[in-house]
Amino acid sequence: MRVLVIGSGAREHALCARLRASPSVEAVLCAPGSSGIARDAVVHPVATHDLDGIVSLATRERVDLVVVGPEGPLVMGIADRLATAGVACFGPGAGAARLEGSKSFSKDFMARHAIPTAAYASFTDYDAAAAYVRSVGHRVVVKADGLAAGKGVVVCDTPQEALDALDRVLRQHAFGDAGATVVVEERIDGQEISFHVIADGERYVVLGAAQDHKRLRDGDNGPNTGGMGAFSPVPVCTPRLVARICAEVVEPTLRGIAREGHPFRGVLFVGLMIDDAGTPKVLEYNVRFGDPECAVLLARLDGDLAPLLDAAARSALSAETVRVRDDVAIAVVIAAEGYPDAPREGVAIRGIELAEAVPGARVYHAGTSRRDGGWVTAGGRVLLVTATAPSLVEAAAIAYQAADRIELPGAQLRRDIGWRALAPSASR
Ligand SMILES: Nc1ncnc2c1ncn2[C@@H]1O[C@H](COP(=O)(O)OP(=O)(O)O)[C@@H](O)[C@H]1O
Ligand SMILES: [Mg+2]
Repeated sequence: MRVLVIGSGAREHALCARLRASPSVEAVLCAPGSSGIARDAVVHPVATHDLDGIVSLATRERVDLVVVGPEGPLVMGIADRLATAGVACFGPGAGAARLEGSKSFSKDFMARHAIPTAAYASFTDYDAAAAYVRSVGHRVVVKADGLAAGKGVVVCDTPQEALDALDRVLRQHAFGDAGATVVVEERIDGQEISFHVIADGERYVVLGAAQDHKRLRDGDNGPNTGGMGAFSPVPVCTPRLVARICAEVVEPTLRGIAREGHPFRGVLFVGLMIDDAGTPKVLEYNVRFGDPECAVLLARLDGDLAPLLDAAARSALSAETVRVRDDVAIAVVIAAEGYPDAPREGVAIRGIELAEAVPGARVYHAGTSRRDGGWVTAGGRVLLVTATAPSLVEAAAIAYQAADRIELPGAQLRRDIGWRALAPSASR
């Protein structure tokens, strides 16, 4: 099989590396990829939003399967374009990708299908939204409707914060068209998990849950980021909770979107809040793997990845196609100085090979490029150091041992990835 991966981050590097190791894969291509990904795939300089370019690359290179990493091209309709060209695509068409591409669509969808989520209302008008915020008796979260690169959500402590957020989105148009509509929803408490399944339009298989760490600094402090690290499995996500999430969320979602004419083929990543009583509520849908979640979920997945993704893309999944190991996987992001606001680019990185020499560790490239025979930073999140071991304590020890071998001036990394699972109250 010849596989083309779309994207350029650590998620796509992990996908390429795994696909390259697959006995059924003859060639791995990646667009646009990166110099780091070029170690595991043949990279082609086609941008993720260049749908014509992707379709012609796939056709020209006789690609059997396209695996789409980021949400952007899915929301734009790359899967539909590839279908027209006769190329199988792992990733949903534009109709189903609206689950991620429009927060108001996804909230209305959940309401239509009785899927548990926070109470909400949608607005296009500032005054109406402000009146709602003043009248509701709970704290709120303000969300720009469209794709906003993870910056469109404000979790508010006070009504004034919500009014300020509404002003920025609806009156100052901080997110352009993506903020023409806002969702104002009830702020809920609990533990957040990233639940992933692979679906083929009808059937699905569970990959499991990971926990991301969105804040920049230890103890969940500092600004929000794309994610500073993840681990899997998540202790709060017991087999009983998995069964409940499948019955109350995954199945009605897949059934509902199919009935609305848009069968979902690809990874459905449900962001869930689990409250103290163990009740899951949907925070949002994503229609692709999380990053950094992808690396830890793949690390625990046994067997050949390519036939699994291919079967999902061709509506031919069978339950036997996945086995998830009991091992614990962890991923630690090494971010550049200045991330997330203004990451410093072009800073020399040393020690990647030394880090990879730590038994059990693997390094994926998120934002690097080559210069004078070495590596330099070329993005906010620079590297993802991963490790797998029988326990979280051991996995973390390996990952941090490897991470400490990487020399990057000004590097930022969290020392507490997995803290919730390691805290005494969370252990079971
Ligand atoms: N209703 C909510 N209550 C509490 N926190 C929320 C709520 N909705 C979102 N959040 C927090 O905000 C983050 C971003 O929101 P999300 O809907 O995932 O948007 P996006 O990932 O598109 O930025 C979530 O990961 C979660 O931590
Ligand atoms: Mg999110």
